[in-house]
Amino acid sequence: MIDQASRLRELAAAYRRQVTGQVGRRFQVIAVTSGKGGVGKTNLAVNLALVLRQSGREVLLMDVDLGLANADILLGTVPPYHLGHFLRGEVDLPQVIHRTATGLKLIAGGSGLVELGNLSAGQLQPVLRALERLQDEADYLVLDTGAGLGDAVLEFALAADQVLVVTTPEPTAMADAYTIIKALVARDPRVKIRLAVNQAERLEDAERAADRIVTTARNFLGAEVRHVGTIPRDPHVWQAVRRKVPVVLSYPGAPASRAVVAMVSRLVGEEPPRPPEPGSFFSRLAGLFARRGGSL
Ligand SMILES: Nc1ncnc2c1ncn2[C@@H]1O[C@H](COP(=O)(O)OP(=O)(O)OP(=O)(O)O)[C@@H](O)[C@H]1O
Ligand SMILES: [Mg+2]
Repeated sequence: MIDQASRLRELAAAYRRQVTGQVGRRFQVIAVTSGKGGVGKTNLAVNLALVLRQSGREVLLMDVDLGLANADILLGTVPPYHLGHFLRGEVDLPQVIHRTATGLKLIAGGSGLVELGNLSAGQLQPVLRALERLQDEADYLVLDTGAGLGDAVLEFALAADQVLVVTTPEPTAMADAYTIIKALVARDPRVKIRLAVNQAERLEDAERAADRIVTTARNFLGAEVRHVGTIPRDPHVWQAVRRKVPVVLSYPGAPASRAVVAMVSRLVGEEPPRPPEPGSFFSRLAGLFARRGGSL
């Protein structure tokens, strides 16, 4: 019996290696964040998650912007449960996962959960524990965070494998992007920051804006921020929002869609997937909370 069981486990592991190309499947975490609000984080997070899904990966998109959650609206889906139900202990996290028609898995945030916006480390514990059990469920976990840093929820960003900071070319958004980069680097100099310039009217302006942030971060923070994409301001994006079908699905040939596809290949193509190791998203989070005196 024992032999049979271990043989079955071996077969399952071999199958998984075949499917995922690696031993076990521990999701890579991409956090999408910004300094200024309204720059296009949610649109980028949703569309980048869909592009990853279209390339055959299992993707879990989690809306951690508890105050203004709206990834579900952009996806045109009404999940029966959201993170609020889980946090109130009404359901388990796997029940909150909603598989959309595209195969993308969504953990919706639940709008109006402002009172939950400032979660303490203790309150986050059950989310982390439950997520840890789900880490073999997907190749990528994409987090759509709120703007700005400060909440315990945004510790997620620091524990991610990559943090995609979104800005527009406007001076105010750029200044706020730099502020968030500075805050991230101050907390953890090893954080991998990627930069996306969204809603670009003119490509040259956007490139110049990105260069300024990259150079300033290098000179003043000693941080290597990698500019991974410039997405044009494109009316197809808000048409897609109105149709509740994300732009990469509703207008795949649109300039914004093509730019997101190019950005995703730079985001995930620049380094081979990390082999599974104990220094996962969760142990990094645990470390972060421990340093702040949280209890994980
Ligand atoms: N590339 C683009 N071209 C045109 N409009 C865009 C583009 N990207 C985003 N938008 C528009 O900008 C608005 C804000 O987008 P979104 O909600 O994704 O921003 P956000 O950063 O998530 O906002 P918040 O900080 O409130 O969470 C939306 O109306 C969206 O349609
Ligand atoms: Mg948003």
